[in-house]
Amino acid sequence: MSQKKKNNAYTDDTDKFARELQELVMEQIKKRYSETVIDHWQNPRNFIKLENPDGYALVKGSCGDTMEMFIKIKNDRISESGFQTDGCGTSIVCGSVATTLAQDKTFIEALAGVSADEILKILGGLPASDVHCAELAAETLRRALADYLYQKKTPWKKNYKRS
Ligand code: FES
Repeated sequence: MSQKKKNNAYTDDTDKFARELQELVMEQIKKRYSETVIDHWQNPRNFIKLENPDGYALVKGSCGDTMEMFIKIKNDRISESGFQTDGCGTSIVCGSVATTLAQDKTFIEALAGVSADEILKILGGLPASDVHCAELAAETLRRALADYLYQKKTPWKKNYKRS
């Protein structure tokens, strides 16, 4: 066998091994997580940092990971929201769901309607070890809403705020 053929055979074997490994990992993930979780994991919504938000929060979860949330309010509704996290894949999923749920809601609707329970319901549940990731997302949104309320009452403080 020529060297070129040997190299091609090696590459084919490596590709096949990588594909099989990927399929195996995906099978394991599908056993633990719903299709909705996998969808938000592969295509996270609102995974962005917004400049000049009307409400902002940075929260450290019980696991030590942090999440940031940014909300913009227009006509008394959440017109835009974004999040960042240094946490696990599930925290990205939960931030994605929390910000999606908050979209177009009033302050009160978002405060009342975006909870860890609601995030878990939409995701079809999470393994017990990941429930705190939903709590982190819900808490970060709640604090961003509280920050909005605070800024609204003291708008002059916005001039001294981080961007
Ligand atoms: Fe820390 Fe998920 S947010 S493990």
